[in-house]
Amino acid sequence: MERILVIGCSGQIGSELVLELRKTYGNGNVFATDIKNAPEEIRETGPFQILDVLDYKNLLHFLVRHKITQVYNLAAVLSGNAEKIPLQAWDINMRALMNTLQAAQQSSAKKLFWPSSIAVFGPTTPRISTPQLTVMEPNTVYGISKLAGERWGEYFYNKYGVDFRSVRYPGLISYKTEPGGGTTDYAVEIFFEAIKKNCYECFLSEDTALPMMFMDDAIKNTIKLMDADPEKLSLRSSYNMAGISFTPKQLAAEISKHQPDFCIEYKPDFRQAIADSWPASIDDSVARADWGLQDEFDLEKMSHHMLTKIDEKINGI
Ligand code: SER
Repeated sequence: MERILVIGCSGQIGSELVLELRKTYGNGNVFATDIKNAPEEIRETGPFQILDVLDYKNLLHFLVRHKITQVYNLAAVLSGNAEKIPLQAWDINMRALMNTLQAAQQSSAKKLFWPSSIAVFGPTTPRISTPQLTVMEPNTVYGISKLAGERWGEYFYNKYGVDFRSVRYPGLISYKTEPGGGTTDYAVEIFFEAIKKNCYECFLSEDTALPMMFMDDAIKNTIKLMDADPEKLSLRSSYNMAGISFTPKQLAAEISKHQPDFCIEYKPDFRQAIADSWPASIDDSVARADWGLQDEFDLEKMSHHMLTKIDEKINGI
């Protein structure tokens, strides 16, 4: 029987992943933790505890005491925020990973999921249909920490048998918990502002294409990778995950189909340079072949879903 620990359950991914895992593995077998309080739905459906992944002794103790077999470590400072506190962000992102790798090695929690990102690529990487194996010279502190993390994950797999699994998430789009401090956050904010004000001031320029994915697809595929037969995994660093690529202008045009008066203004800030260093589209054929990566939401379906759900959330319809 699997017993699963999710670190960072109050964040954008964790708040949805915990509920999905509980459906499959049973409420009592999915332990949700964070350094801040969790959403009500998580606290009410199963175990929740405050846990700081930077506290190694406590983390190891937790894994042993609860006989954890799998860990999802989602704790990180995202790209935009990391640029404001580079050394601190490096320290937090790397220590969070190294603690879970070491704790996995020293306990029975051998299976570990850790998210990487399209941020591992940099300005010298081919920008269109970025291959799985290519030039990687990230120039953001977030990207450097993700690339280093991928190397460490593979190292712990080869050297200590830690069952490390990872995907390079594109920008993730969801309505339950908003992201904080990322460069792709505009693609979430735009929907909330569309419902609230029918207008949005975008911090990226209109032609900035980035890969994105709707959260349902991201969660489904994450669990699929964790359930995959280890024999099928040709990579132990991190798999490319493409999702859908679009620009702010294309997204605004899609929203206008539902709200014809929707207005958008472009005021690029420091995050433009980050976005410019990332791929516009990704090739994820290795993940498709190895473990069956599949996605369902295109731009149209995702936009319709976001607008409907956020309308319900804000206006209570
Ligand atoms: N979505 C993240 C960010 O923008 C990238 O992984 O920081």
